[in-house]
Amino acid sequence: RIPLVIDTDPGIDDALAILLALASPEVDLRLVTTVHGNVDLALTTENALRVLHLAGRSDVPVAAGAQASLIHPQPERAGHVHGAEGLGGVQLPPSPARLDPRPAVVALADLLMSSPVPVTVAPIGPLTNIALLLAVYPEAAARIGRLVVMGGSAGRGGNVTAAAEFNIWSDPEAAAAVFGSTVPTVMVGLDVTLPTVLSEEGIARFASAGPIGATAAAILRQYLDHARDAYGTAGVVVHDALALTEAIAPGTLGTVRRDVVVDTTLGAGRGQTLVDRRTVSTSPSAVEVAETVDVGAAVEFLVSRLGRLDGP
Ligand code: BDR
Ligand code: CA
Repeated sequence: RIPLVIDTDPGIDDALAILLALASPEVDLRLVTTVHGNVDLALTTENALRVLHLAGRSDVPVAAGAQASLIHPQPERAGHVHGAEGLGGVQLPPSPARLDPRPAVVALADLLMSSPVPVTVAPIGPLTNIALLLAVYPEAAARIGRLVVMGGSAGRGGNVTAAAEFNIWSDPEAAAAVFGSTVPTVMVGLDVTLPTVLSEEGIARFASAGPIGATAAAILRQYLDHARDAYGTAGVVVHDALALTEAIAPGTLGTVRRDVVVDTTLGAGRGQTLVDRRTVSTSPSAVEVAETVDVGAAVEFLVSRLGRLDGP
């Protein structure tokens, strides 16, 4: 089983991504680190603890990370998408587990240095914690087996501005450090997440599996309403869960090695990922950019796995 860390800002699709990892025997979720993003750090941390508890996995340690971006404050949270408290207005029962006393970067570095096998790290929020790890514990960062990032866009424009995807826009300087590093990185951006729509029928399948599936479906309700009102779609785009699919089952997405530069200027392009699609890169800092997805297979993977959470 691949040791896995999820770095997250729950967040509706983050919650789904955590549940997907817990439902997947290929990976061993060893640590959850939290970061500011969709809502404030105190809420993302509380939500991470509660989602693990929902799935009966409060044994997985949760360590809190950065409460703000490296340099410029994130302009806006995403409570209008995820609900003021981050989980679509659903109140999950509090977890009996206590927060890991270590800062996220310390917990992450400890795990990376002690693991006998390479660890997969899946950042599905702003990249602040991962940039801090690179700066503070470069020797630990060098031991990351795969960094599967949900963020950016190669050719679909942005979702929070015309140019930028939310996670990158939330901390462009951090993203620039991560994409500029030699850590083996997969970028799961809007090119593959936006076409991957989870339909109401798909949600109904795991909703009927039992209480965990039903709660996951309830958390998605506000996301569904938002998608219908904002985009006229009958289904939801669960960005972070698709990134986890690639972390769990490497090769799910079609990737190409590209040079990626993050726009850190303060103008209209701030937070854009400039992906050089003219050539396949041989640079050590190149990023495996996800460019193709089998939408039917990806959605089926998610729906069938979530349905297993309530199993024996
Ligand atoms: C990303 O932004 C957040 O709102 C989601 O949780 C996801 O990580 C999509 O752009
Ligand atoms: Ca997220």
